[in-house]
Order: sequence, then C-alpha cells, then structure tokens
Amino acid sequence: MEEKVLILDFGGQYDQLIARRVRECRVYCEVKPWQTSLEEIKAFQPAAIIFTGGPHSVYAPGAPDADPGVFALGVPILGICYGCQLLAFKLGGEVVPARGSAAGEYGKTETAFSAENALFRGLPEKSVTWMSHGDVISRLPAGFRVIARSGSCPAAAVCDEERRFYGVQFHPEVRHTEFGREMLRNFLYGVCGFRGSWTMESYRERAVGELRERIGAGRVLLALSGGVDSSVCAALLAEAVGGQLSCVFVDHGLLRKNEGDEVEAAFAGRGAKFIRVNASERFLRRLMRVQQPEVKRKRIGEEFIRVFEEESRKLGRVEFLAQGTIYPDVIESGLGSAAVIKSHHNVGGLPDTVDFREIVEPLRLLFKDEVRQLGRELGLPESLVSRQPFPGPGLAIRIIGPVTREKLETLREADAIFREELEKAGLGASAAQYFAVLTNLRSVGVMGDGRSYDRAIALRAVETEDFMTAGWVRLPWELLDRVSVRIVNEVSGVNRVLYDITSKPPATVEYE
Ligand code: XMP
Repeated sequence: MEEKVLILDFGGQYDQLIARRVRECRVYCEVKPWQTSLEEIKAFQPAAIIFTGGPHSVYAPGAPDADPGVFALGVPILGICYGCQLLAFKLGGEVVPARGSAAGEYGKTETAFSAENALFRGLPEKSVTWMSHGDVISRLPAGFRVIARSGSCPAAAVCDEERRFYGVQFHPEVRHTEFGREMLRNFLYGVCGFRGSWTMESYRERAVGELRERIGAGRVLLALSGGVDSSVCAALLAEAVGGQLSCVFVDHGLLRKNEGDEVEAAFAGRGAKFIRVNASERFLRRLMRVQQPEVKRKRIGEEFIRVFEEESRKLGRVEFLAQGTIYPDVIESGLGSAAVIKSHHNVGGLPDTVDFREIVEPLRLLFKDEVRQLGRELGLPESLVSRQPFPGPGLAIRIIGPVTREKLETLREADAIFREELEKAGLGASAAQYFAVLTNLRSVGVMGDGRSYDRAIALRAVETEDFMTAGWVRLPWELLDRVSVRIVNEVSGVNRVLYDITSKPPATVEYE
C-alpha cells in the first residue's frame, strides 16, 4: 500500500502544521474536511489517518463527527486533542468536561510517558507538551490503555496497540511540545511502518503524468509573474505538455534590475510558448502623477488584467487556465469548496473575460518550501527558486510619491547594489526581505567641491516568520558602510543613504 496519510480536519487551528510535519517525514498526506464521506475516504486509500484537533466538545450538538466505518479500514489512526476525544468516544469510551481548579489545560504541561510504547520510543519519560483542551477522557474504550499522564489529565495519551489506534490529548505538531516531531515520526515510522519515500522527484513524476492525462491535447494559458509559485507552475506544465502551454509574462517595468531577462532566460528552451509583453510605457502612463499608494496598486492591478486579456484574446479560446495556487491558500480558502479560485493577490484579480473551460492548479497540494524544492528538481535557477517575496505592484510602492522612469532607474541601481553586497557577505538568509526604497526626501550634500541637493535612499532588511510582524535585521556596520559608499558613488542623483530601524508594527515592511 502506498504511504499516504489522510488528515481529517475537525476545525483545529494547527491542521496545516500537522500536514507540514507529516510531509517533513517524507510521507505524503492530504487534509480533507471531516464531512468527507466514507466512500471518498476509501477511494483515497489512506495507509493511515490522523484526526486533528478542533474547538468543539464531542457532545455539542452538531459537533464534527467521524464515520464509524473508518475504524474498520484496518489502518492506524492517530487522534490529536479533539481527535483523541472523538476516537475514545466513538469506540465506546467516555469524555467529560475537565473539573477542578484548572477546568481544562492550556499551554505548556509537564507530561509523563510510557517510554516503552511505540509512540514514545527513544524519548525521555518526562517532557513538556502543549495542551489546549476543556474535556478529558474519563473512561477508556475496550482494548485501550493509558500511555501518558499529566497533572490534570490522567489520560494524556491512550492506545489500542492491536488495532493501532493512538490518541494524544496534547498537540505534537506545535513546537512547544518538546518531542512532538519525534512522536509524529514514531507514529509514521514505528506504528505505521512507513519508510518516508515521498520525495519531490516522485511528486514531479506523478504530477507530470496526471497533468498529461487531464490536459490531453488541450491548450493551457498561464500568467507568469516571475514569482516562485507561477514560475514553478510554468516549469512543471512545460515539462508535462510543452508546446500546448502559453506563458504570458507581463513586464510592467516595475521589476528589479535584470529580473525580466532572468525570467525570460529561465523559460527559454522549455518548449512552451513564452510571451513577454513589454508594457512599461502603458504602466508608466497610468502611474503618472499618482501620489496615493492604494491608487497605484489599483491602477497596476487593472492594467495588468487589461494587458493579460489582450494577449490571451490573441491566443483565442484555451481549454485551461493555470494558476500557481499553493496548499496554504487552499486550506485557508476553505477545504470544503473544491473549486475556490484564488484571486491572484499579486496582480489584483482574475480576468473574467478570458475564455477558458477549466482551471488547473498543479501546486495546490504543496507547501512553499516544497514548491521551491520542486523548482530545483525542474532545473530552475536558484535565483528564481529561492527568491524573496516581491510585491505585485513592484518598485512602484518602493518609490514614495509619483513614479517616473528616472526614479525607477535610480532605485533599481541602488537596490541591486544593496542586494549584491548583502548576498556577497553571505547574509542573504539572515533576512526574509531586503531591498532599497527611494524616499521623497531631498537634502543638501557636498560632493567634490560642489554642493548637491539630491535624493535619499532608505535600506530595509527585515526578519519575520509570517510577515504579520517583523523585526529589522542588525546588519554589520561594515556592510552598511560599503553599501552606502557604493550607492552614493555609483548611482547618480543620490547623496544620502539611511538604514531603517523600525519594526512592524508600528511600521510596515513596504513603504507604501
Ligand atoms: P507590509 O508592507 O504590509 O508587507 O508589511 C507585508 C508583505 O506583503 C508584501 N506586500 C505586497 N504583496 N502586493 C503584493 O503582492 C502588494 O500590494 C503588497 N504590499 C505588501 C510585502 O512585500 C511583504 O512581503
């Protein structure tokens, strides 16, 4: 049987994380809503099932439920938090609200384990777990025994070894559970007997086969932005259906130095039709004298769609429109609705007049780091694959105030110097995003024997996990000095360089 895990989603906040952890163990998994029918579950042919956590109590009316048929599939099951309670409840146990002063357990909890159990093999007998539950198991179903305990939770983990059913009251997927990853690995390798054979190489083969079957002789259209997702999507489709693919790359003239050429070079010789539309004039015209950031964004988004539509009309009817939607988008936009079309936040919405029959999203089951891995596997250059996030409106929102060709040129040069020096210093990985901004400040300087009255460039380098909050990176002074000297010497019209030492909040990452 193929090593494949079904993660049944009961509405927990860490469900994506469970999927990531399983994938990190090189085991393929998919998250499906708890309402998935037994027939669909059987058709998926899982070799193991994980029940996720969820905010409910098993007795609450309308609480997420599991079809008892899953217990007869003969595959191992791991229930997490709510999933653990549901497992016990459905198999004849009893669950009650936690009593006493704690009334449930939340946060880091000292937990004792039966170290001889397969789930905890090789791990310490005591460690910290992350609990977040209001109910506890008060009576075990027949065949079960307790394999972990905590202060207010006498059944912190339970199992029926014969049927290979396991339940943990805590969350092994979050990093606050000290040995959580090891426990998941023990479940997958020790209990399920998996080997961890899922690799990007195998994914690539499978995806190419599936795409060929689905697309047949149809034609595919893709809006290529040069970002990681759309680039990998294009490379995968090019490998699968080559000449049937048309990539439309709208060059809005707001890209970083050499970026447009790099994208073009990466797709030369891949067999697909690559259409680069040099639309910088049009975009500049639309941005003329525009001051407000949101107006800039809106105009760029609209213009993008217009250009894309014009190009796609030239191609006539296509059967498929491809999108680089990735798994976090799929999970976030609601698993139940299979056909959610992601609004392309980079370009401001999907053209609705493009004539196509179906959408293909070949990356919809991959996480970002897996997309990058697939890109490498497909031979895309590292500069494209490990690219930092770049906003759809591009340099337009890194120029404070109205955008002009001259300002774009200035910013592009300064930005290239900053990025080059930072990467040369081996610090590329220390920041999630690093770039230059052209401020609207003009100030007095002295250059040679003369007085200058020129522009100021701000440098920004931030570290962050989710871009909701961010801190500024403590770059070495020597590096900042080198960058400053080079920018002022090499970029005309700039006489001052500033380093931004503001975190988010209160500032944002971008300036506009
Ligand atoms: P802020 O400036 O909101 O940025 O702190 C957070 C992250 O979002 C990116 N960003 C954008 N991406 N279109 C995009 O595609 C936009 O209009 C946009 N504005 C900000 C920003 O680069 C950072 O990664």
